[in-house]
Amino acid sequence: MNQYIAIRVSTLRGDLKIPFNAYVQVAGKFILFCREGDSFEGDRLERLKSKKLKKMYIPEEQIEVYKSYIHQNVENAYAKSKEKSVEVRAQVIHGALQATAEDLIDDPESFAHYTVALEAAKKFKAFLQVEPEALKPIVELTNPDFNISHHGVTVAALALAIACEMNLNESRPMELEAMALGCMIHDIENSYNNINLSVPPEKLTKAEKIIYEKHTFAAHERLKKSDFYDPVILDVVAKHDEKLDGSGPRKLKERDLDQISMIVATANAFDKLIMYEKLPVKEALKKLLIDKMGLLNLNCMKALQSALKKCGTI
Ligand SMILES: [Fe+2]
Ligand SMILES: [Fe+2]
Repeated sequence: MNQYIAIRVSTLRGDLKIPFNAYVQVAGKFILFCREGDSFEGDRLERLKSKKLKKMYIPEEQIEVYKSYIHQNVENAYAKSKEKSVEVRAQVIHGALQATAEDLIDDPESFAHYTVALEAAKKFKAFLQVEPEALKPIVELTNPDFNISHHGVTVAALALAIACEMNLNESRPMELEAMALGCMIHDIENSYNNINLSVPPEKLTKAEKIIYEKHTFAAHERLKKSDFYDPVILDVVAKHDEKLDGSGPRKLKERDLDQISMIVATANAFDKLIMYEKLPVKEALKKLLIDKMGLLNLNCMKALQSALKKCGTI
């Protein structure tokens, strides 16, 4: 009998033909969904995502072929090429980062996953620095199933773009790499606390709200158990929902927050508007500038506006 191994759907983005058979599991049975030689472009991937399917399966003996496919897919995406649009490349990179974040979210005590994720965050930062126009396809990539790692990678891209606008790239490069990884996994706790992620926090039930309000504390506790997390990552996870007037979970005010926490809070609030209210980027920015005035750092909001303008999103 064939043995199957789970693979992450987010790693299958892109236009490369897959060199393996991919299966879905239905009522305990493995059904062939995509045949060796097909690709996961367009409709097929959208259909899978709309089913909120995170995992597919491949026969155990094809694991090495799968690994080299992933590696090549990402390498191709990072290499600038005339044949491939920055759009497709950014989508592949986003998918691969999502899978990397999911590995660490599922097993946050794994130093091996941590090292891989930090390296991936570093590469992502360099990519966005050289090709800031990649922010547009990333922000416009929809997240219909409210996936926390999709949200995390998008928040990482937005936070890096804001930081770049604020010239932190030169003065605090290492911290930005840790910031990006922190963003990728900042909502880690929501994959453990069983709350309904498809509604905005303010629409949760009373019982769920109590749990949700603790997510930044619980996540901080979870990661602190391992001694290898960079302090910047712990800070991002702990403070991404803080508001300048002290109405956030930790009641910290502007004077208590450092620049990186304020950048991440801005990126997070912005992507939440896109994800939950399904607002086009331009409308989301307008709403952010009005509704969050006094709650988010003004310079961070201005830097976000400028980054979005430069990449042609607004
Ligand atoms: Fe959060
Ligand atoms: Fe978030």
